[in-house]
Amino acid sequence: MRIITVVSGGDAPGINAALYHLALQAVRHGDTLLGALGGFPGLLNERIETLEQGALLPWIGLAGTYLQSSREPVLAQPAGRAQLAEVLARHQVDALVVFGGNGTLRHIPPLLAELGLVSIGLPTTIDNDVPGTEATLGFFSACDFAHRTIDGIRATGHALQGRIFTMETLGGDTGYLALEVAHSAGADVALIPEMSYDAAHVAARLKAGIEQRGQALMVYSEGLPGKQALLDALPVLAGIRIRDTRLGHAQRGSTPSHYDRWLAAQMARHALTSLHEGRRSGVICVEGGRIVVRDSLIGMPPRQPDLHLYNWINALPQGDT
Ligand code: F6P
Repeated sequence: MRIITVVSGGDAPGINAALYHLALQAVRHGDTLLGALGGFPGLLNERIETLEQGALLPWIGLAGTYLQSSREPVLAQPAGRAQLAEVLARHQVDALVVFGGNGTLRHIPPLLAELGLVSIGLPTTIDNDVPGTEATLGFFSACDFAHRTIDGIRATGHALQGRIFTMETLGGDTGYLALEVAHSAGADVALIPEMSYDAAHVAARLKAGIEQRGQALMVYSEGLPGKQALLDALPVLAGIRIRDTRLGHAQRGSTPSHYDRWLAAQMARHALTSLHEGRRSGVICVEGGRIVVRDSLIGMPPRQPDLHLYNWINALPQGDT
């Protein structure tokens, strides 16, 4: 088979590892693996190269994507879709493997299916907000990056007692990343865009953290409504200066974790096996810790943050599960 890989939307740690594993699998299956440089716009402009395992190997431990990506919605218009079909026919492509997050994987595979094109989607985003899968490629690496930063913050927090630290994670308008990190770091407060909060309660939680262990930590997601007003109000409410850290895009560019490399290998293996079994459309998902291949994400309920976890971290009522 001639298979082309395309990365669409935000990059995520683990994509390069998945590309390497796709190249390995392609050799086993006797396939030719192609890559589109610069997402779907690059593909329409025929920026296409053959992907070889030797060239991809040095990239396996790096975040980002060797192929580069794009957020430009070039397939939204019929002309773009027609051009895509032409380009793929000209390059005798039998199937696409598409890396993407929530936006890409909800919209692109149905468009490709309408065009009669064979495709497999790989959920890749540090936000972990793709419906139908428990884990997306890149999420756990982004969590690890946050933990390394928190470890550093806590070291200085031990040296200089009595401080309140706040840390912003990426996550767009979702809070999975912030909630997961806050929980496993034992933060005093986790604030996410999906839930409202009370500034006085937040300040009281942070002050209690200082009394209990000499320092306090709040983790919040970048899309939190009113975040700047809250950061301005907290020193007044708590009577203590706030030290704020923002992870920014460095979090998205963090070193792929073991789990994400495992997931990359699994996704690659299942993607090519599915294509050789004759699957015409699918998305590689994780359910109960195992890989499942779904026909599509259509009808999958949007992911909801764990309300009980949120309440438990923030010591709010109904949080005792
Ligand atoms: O890809 C997901 C994500 O990293 C979000 O967490 C973040 O809000 C967004 O992308 C940032 O997008 P951009 O790189 O276009 O600024």
